[in-house]
Amino acid sequence: MPRVMYSPFVKERVFISMSNDSYEASRKRSDEVTADLSVHPEKYLMLTGDRPTGRLHMGHYFGTIKERVALQNQGITTRIVIADYQVITDRDTTEHIQDNVFNMVVDYMACGIDPEKTLIFTHSAVPALNQLMLPFLSLVSESELERNPTVKAEMEASGHALTGLLLTYPVHQACDILFCKGNIVPVGKDQLPHIEITRQIARRFNERYAPVFPEPIGLLNDAPEIPGLDGRKMSKSYGNAISLAFTEEETAKLIKKSKTDSERMITFDKENRPGVSALLTTAALCTGRSEVEIAEEIGNDGAGALKKYVTESVNAYLAPIRERRRELSEQKSYVQEVLHEGNRLANEIANATLDEVREAMNMVY
Ligand code: TRP
Repeated sequence: MPRVMYSPFVKERVFISMSNDSYEASRKRSDEVTADLSVHPEKYLMLTGDRPTGRLHMGHYFGTIKERVALQNQGITTRIVIADYQVITDRDTTEHIQDNVFNMVVDYMACGIDPEKTLIFTHSAVPALNQLMLPFLSLVSESELERNPTVKAEMEASGHALTGLLLTYPVHQACDILFCKGNIVPVGKDQLPHIEITRQIARRFNERYAPVFPEPIGLLNDAPEIPGLDGRKMSKSYGNAISLAFTEEETAKLIKKSKTDSERMITFDKENRPGVSALLTTAALCTGRSEVEIAEEIGNDGAGALKKYVTESVNAYLAPIRERRRELSEQKSYVQEVLHEGNRLANEIANATLDEVREAMNMVY
């Protein structure tokens, strides 16, 4: 039975299948590591990242950023790649990339990522990381890449021919993870095939040459997905996303515009009332209360009262993040310094790994 997964890059829901066997094995590894994290934090090095395509929104925050901050504060070594080359896997422009990268660093730090503890870098600034691509490409076959369900889904969504970069981006992502010997990668289910290929590349390299790389484990995120305001996945391209950078007024406006239904009585029913239920879930995440409790409280006061409550909860929850965001946005040179220092350190790490790779491959001249 194929397992149904959801790709973040496609406009509509698509089905990604992965065999149950490999899903169950991944789930088991993830559970084992999750249990061990607080016992042996020193054993783990987390690497994860994002494409700098726009501002972070509440979906990113509740889906992954919060977990990264928690791992960071648990004493796990944490590293975040701003995956700028990945932007051009499915779009043709890098026009806003500088602004997006700057704001991504600001968003991270506003959410609690501490650059003293977490390395933040852009992969275009780390040549030795990219150089791993050549030996790694020799370890995968064309059909393995073509079978990758996320690559297939993204190609279909992009509407153009499969480029070499999109076809090989799981290998590039393996470079992101392995250059610093990351051994845990928080992922949504849709990214599991990439972890599988990374594990294979590490294993094949180690067998063929010398043991250099760990086989990283995907930490499956169990947080309920925060819906966008219309009940679909939260995504900027749907116009249903509350960006962390929004003002209180922009937040109020977007929530006000969101679609509910004609039923006055507020109830939590995801299937039949996606708009109302998405609003309830948003408020629940921000207040720590349950959807049903909030629905009962609003009761017959209708969607207007619900929207008012959601707006207040979201704005109250995001207030400290937004405050830090504002402060950081004004400290341009400090934010740049964070990235420069991150890139400097990432280069040190990548150069050391590439030296080991050269050694393992008898390429020291
Ligand atoms: N592909 C990821 C995304 O689009 C971003 C990413 C790049 C990443 N390199 C990574 C995630 C390495 C985890 C590990 O969300």
